[in-house]
Amino acid sequence: MSVTTANQKTEVMLAINGGPKAFAKQHGPRKPKIGMEEFMSIAERFGFSEEALQRIRSTVSDDDLGEGPTLSRFLTSVPAKTKGEDYEQKAREIFGTKYALPTSSGTGALHSAMIGAGVGPGTEVIVPAIGFFATAATVVAAKAVPVFCDVDESLCIDPEKIEACITPRTVAVAPTCVMGAVPDMDPILEVARKHNLKVIEDCAQAPGAKYKGRYMGTLGDVGCFSISSYKIVGGGEGGLLITDDERLFERAGLLAECGGLTRPDRFAPPRYPGELFCGTNYRLSELEAAIDVVQIQKMPALVEKYNTIRNSVLSQLKTYTEIVPQKLNDPQGGAGYMIRFFPENEELGRKIAAALNAEGIGIGRFIWPSECEIRGKDAPPDWHVYKNMFAVLQKMDSAETGCPFSCPIYIEKGGRIEYSEGDCPVADDLFDRNIQIWFDPGYDEEDCKNIADGINKVLSAYCTEDPDGRPWI
Ligand SMILES: Cc1ncc(COP(=O)(O)O)c(C=O)c1O
Repeated sequence: MSVTTANQKTEVMLAINGGPKAFAKQHGPRKPKIGMEEFMSIAERFGFSEEALQRIRSTVSDDDLGEGPTLSRFLTSVPAKTKGEDYEQKAREIFGTKYALPTSSGTGALHSAMIGAGVGPGTEVIVPAIGFFATAATVVAAKAVPVFCDVDESLCIDPEKIEACITPRTVAVAPTCVMGAVPDMDPILEVARKHNLKVIEDCAQAPGAKYKGRYMGTLGDVGCFSISSYKIVGGGEGGLLITDDERLFERAGLLAECGGLTRPDRFAPPRYPGELFCGTNYRLSELEAAIDVVQIQKMPALVEKYNTIRNSVLSQLKTYTEIVPQKLNDPQGGAGYMIRFFPENEELGRKIAAALNAEGIGIGRFIWPSECEIRGKDAPPDWHVYKNMFAVLQKMDSAETGCPFSCPIYIEKGGRIEYSEGDCPVADDLFDRNIQIWFDPGYDEEDCKNIADGINKVLSAYCTEDPDGRPWI
């Protein structure tokens, strides 16, 4: 239809004036961005049988999937709650915290927690000498300086040594649950409160562990978890941050969500000094969240099962002069997926390890420096102990400026840090001669008895029984 108006010469009727749309509907096929083949590749990855794959193929097609699904937490075409939101809600319910932030990794949760807690240039964070590299690394990623504190026979941070690590620059302490073992939180919290330090709990290796009846991660200011596939509550690559502190949560969210995506008004001026800054993206994918929301609900029962197994085995063990059992800060708590002990020297440890393996009792350990028979000669040094965290010890940074270790802001505040092997002698010693025995959650009473009998058999062959020795539990 052709008409003439005041501003138009010979005109067709524009859609804006009520005419027909030029592109009312796409003629060619619309395929979902992520469709059948992509989902089938996940099914293949997880080993679905050819028959099962075929059944899915024959009942679902790309057309059934429409335009979606969009695997994003924010851009979902489905009005229902996303799996990310579901995971967040379940985490809040289980841990009983006000806030939960799903993240793409435990490292992402830790980095967000550091920033949320006010860790930054010119500050220091006390981290344990045994744990994992990510704790110290995320302090450096937040442009602050990690200070290593020695451990005790629980392998967790020694509360009695924290005070000596405090300087005017210390803003936080980050106790780590070491392979299911819980730090002694009461004295840690006491010293933190006395010195006004934030407590950033790294619970990556102990999701679901408790200390005196309370979930680890809920005792300090913020708790961080990893849900990576090699953790006991394993997904693929995922993480979680929990807290009751609204401001810490907001700031953690800014770091994890590109500096403001979660703010009610992204462009509003800062509501308090330091509210706005550039962030990164640690968002959890919907695919991972779909798995994690199921996994996290298994956590309480799984940890209870592990603790029953641990306590059953420990209560059947005899005591020996040459063996020091790992100290348990809460014998009813923790996450008992393994037990540990320290033979009096490395040589004895090697003999015991070989004999236990021959009995069919799988032992593992942090890698001993003198030999790497578990992973082979060329195994890299183990990153669970400070002396092997070379990027920190050698003060490396990506631009070779020495930042944050020689950052002027740090120096102006009197900061000066030197690291070397030997700084934490208890960690050096215990790390090099610990033995750990892993459990399977499927063990029954008979398995526990057979394992305890096997340990007693081996230890009796190499050590001296001592009824007055330190009890295992
Ligand atoms: C104590 C500790 N903190 C943090 C992390 C990092 O978790 P993720 O691998 O999910 O980044 C790990 C992982 O092994 C860990 O053991």
